[in-house]
Amino acid sequence: MRIQTGNPVSGDDFYKRQHLIARIWDLIESGNHVLIAAPRRVGKTSLMYYLKDNPKKNFSFLFLDTESINNENEFFRRVVNKVLQTDFIKGSQKVFSFLEKHKPTIKKVGPDGVEFGVREDHDYLDMLSRILKATACAEKKLVIMLDEFPETLENIIDDEGENEGRHFLQSNRELRHDRELCNNVQFIYTGSIGLENVVSKLNAIQTINDLTRLKIPPLQTEEANEMIYMLKTNLPFELSKSLIGYMLEKIEWLIPFYIQLALQELKFLYRDEKPKSITKSIIDRAFDRMLEQRNHFENWHTRLRKALKASNDYNFVKELLNIASEKDTITSNEIFNLAVKYKLEDIYKDLVGSLIYDGYINNEEDNHVYRYNSPILRMWWRKNVAN
Ligand SMILES: Nc1ncnc2c1ncn2[C@@H]1O[C@H](COP(=O)(O)OP(=O)(O)O)[C@@H](O)[C@H]1O
Ligand SMILES: [Mg+2]
Repeated sequence: MRIQTGNPVSGDDFYKRQHLIARIWDLIESGNHVLIAAPRRVGKTSLMYYLKDNPKKNFSFLFLDTESINNENEFFRRVVNKVLQTDFIKGSQKVFSFLEKHKPTIKKVGPDGVEFGVREDHDYLDMLSRILKATACAEKKLVIMLDEFPETLENIIDDEGENEGRHFLQSNRELRHDRELCNNVQFIYTGSIGLENVVSKLNAIQTINDLTRLKIPPLQTEEANEMIYMLKTNLPFELSKSLIGYMLEKIEWLIPFYIQLALQELKFLYRDEKPKSITKSIIDRAFDRMLEQRNHFENWHTRLRKALKASNDYNFVKELLNIASEKDTITSNEIFNLAVKYKLEDIYKDLVGSLIYDGYINNEEDNHVYRYNSPILRMWWRKNVAN
């Protein structure tokens, strides 16, 4: 297992989170449509890559990152093209004759077969549903995994308006509930912004209430230890059990990404300074260096700027996070006072709710006290945003 800190990981670089994998298979095998809920960088995309590369017998997975898509027909065109590449339809005589009738006019036949190009005007939702139905008796089940789906919804709302956004959600729902499909086709949706947050602004929660939520929790301490143990084989120095414990305590919110980042920084520091052995103070310095890497954390800040279009909402949230970064915690009273200051008494709970959902803060230990999930993000915020 190699240290990876940028893209989603796959193959040997993926630490197999047994509990999580078993959980998602339970949901898939009992026929659920799933909404994976987790903040950015928690490992959603890597998990989907894993499913795609390691399907159980009789399952076929399709993965599509929909982030750049901004209209409904385009969305379904991209899904159609992906479906045409899967072994779910390969060899299906019915699909073949369907395609004979609906040949793409501008033919694009790549290594993966037929593709419908941008300029071809079809009703792709209808086409998708027909292609899927043509294979509905196949022994395989198809799981369609859609990454960054809430981004697509936001794009559609921004470019075409809220009604189109609702329509898009409705179309997805109809597809999930089509009686001829529901035994053979399942969907997994995910994305780094909360789908519920976007959908509830549209008053359209009923369009997604059939999805089963799966949370991705941080690693358990034993899992984190095991992951470090596997990564360590590629490091040029020893790390004792107690030093690993020290690192994990500093990381606290044990998501694989922070473990990777910390080890990477330690590796760089070791290379630069060639110390005889690793000590706590070297680990401390590796963490300091890690915080200097703006690009790892900047997104937590810019994302808020983009998501909170009203600058007053943004200022409220920023001040809340500034305070929590400086004092370690912020109480519900203090938050209420802030809401009064910004005249946001009506909606501040929603804003706090999205901060929790998006993985900034939690109030798990004490209902009235909020703190950052990650001390690393807290320190970064204090240094780079609050001051
Ligand atoms: N199972 C895993 N094993 C090893 N590293 C992981 C794993 N899951 C996530 N990571 C680390 O987290 C980073 C982000 O993972 P990614 O799947 O892109 O998260 P998300 O899609 O939730 O933003 C990866 O670059 C990698 O460093
Ligand atoms: Mg991702």
